[in-house]
Amino acid sequence: AGPYLHLFQDFWCPTNSVEGVNKFQKHFDAKDNDVFVASFPKSGTTWLKALTFAIVNHQQFSSFDNHPLLSSNPHELVPFPEFMYSHDLHDQILSLSNKSEPRLLSTHLPFPSLPQSITKSNCKIIYICRNPFDTFVSVWEFFNKIKPVSSPEFIFEEAFEKYCNGIMGFGPWWSHMLGYWKESITRRNKVLFLKYEDLKEDTVFHVKRIAEFLDSPITQGGESNTVIEHIIKLCRFEKMKDLEVNKSGCILNGVEKKNFFRKGEIGDWINYFSPSMIEKLSKIIEEKLGGSGLSFKVHS
Ligand code: A3P
Repeated sequence: AGPYLHLFQDFWCPTNSVEGVNKFQKHFDAKDNDVFVASFPKSGTTWLKALTFAIVNHQQFSSFDNHPLLSSNPHELVPFPEFMYSHDLHDQILSLSNKSEPRLLSTHLPFPSLPQSITKSNCKIIYICRNPFDTFVSVWEFFNKIKPVSSPEFIFEEAFEKYCNGIMGFGPWWSHMLGYWKESITRRNKVLFLKYEDLKEDTVFHVKRIAEFLDSPITQGGESNTVIEHIIKLCRFEKMKDLEVNKSGCILNGVEKKNFFRKGEIGDWINYFSPSMIEKLSKIIEEKLGGSGLSFKVHS
C-alpha cells in the first residue's frame, strides 16, 4: 500500500521524497539540544509527538486548558524536516534555524540514513515502533483513506505480500526497528526506544521515562504526578481525536488531519488477517527479529 517507492540507501523511500531526503542529509544542521521523534510510519508517531511536546513545554503554559495541543495538530508542532525539504518549503526550512529551543522535530528515516549532524551531535532521539501486525493494518487503512477517490483500492493481500518483503515507505520495517534498537542499546543517552503497546499499557511509567531521558524537571517536585497525569489526559486518543483542529483541515501532502486518528488499539489486526497470513508474518518476525531481544505484544 502507499506511494511509489524507490530503493534508496537500503530503504524504500517514497519516490517524491528522495530529493528531499538528500537535501535533508546534506543541509540539516543539528543542535546538541534538538529532540527528534523517530518512528516507522503508523507506529504512534502522532501520539509520541504530542506527549513529547507537552513534556518539553509544560512549564510555559499556565493551564492545560490553553495548551497549544488543543489548537494545533502534533504534526504542525513537531514537523518532519525531510518532508519540508521534499516539498521545497523554503520558508519552513529557513524557520527551522529560528525555531525556539529545544527544537522538537521528527523523522521516519532509518537510523543509518539520518543526517550525520544528527547522529554525531548530542541531540536526542525518541523512537517508537509497534507490533508488525497492527502496523500493517494501520498503514493499509491509512493509504486507502488518503488515496484519491478515483484511484483503485489497495488490495489487502497484495499490500501484505509487499509488506512481508519489506516493501513499504521507509521499510523494511525490521531493519528500521533493528537500526534504532541496536543504537538504543549501545547509546542509551542518545536513543530511547519505545513500543506503542508498552506506552498504551503503562503510559505513566513511559511518560516518566521520556521525561527522565530528556532531563525534564517534571520528574522532580511534589507536583510531578499531577503534571504527568495532565499531560497524559491531554494526549489521550479520544481527547485528540475529538479536537476540532484534528477533525478538519489538511496538513502536508494534502493529508487530512483526521486520518491520523483511527482506532488506537492493540490487536485490531485479528479482524483482518487470515490464518495463513498470521503464520507467514509470525515466521518473518521470528526470522528477522529472533535473537535480537526485540519482541512485541500483539493482543490487548
Ligand atoms: P490505528 O490505525 O491502529 O488506529 P502514526 O501517528 O505513526 O501515523 O500512527 C497512527 C496510529 O496511532 C493509528 O493507529 C492511530 O489511531 C494511533 N493514534 C493516534 N493518536 C493516538 C493517541 N493519542 N493515542 C493512541 N494512539 C493514537
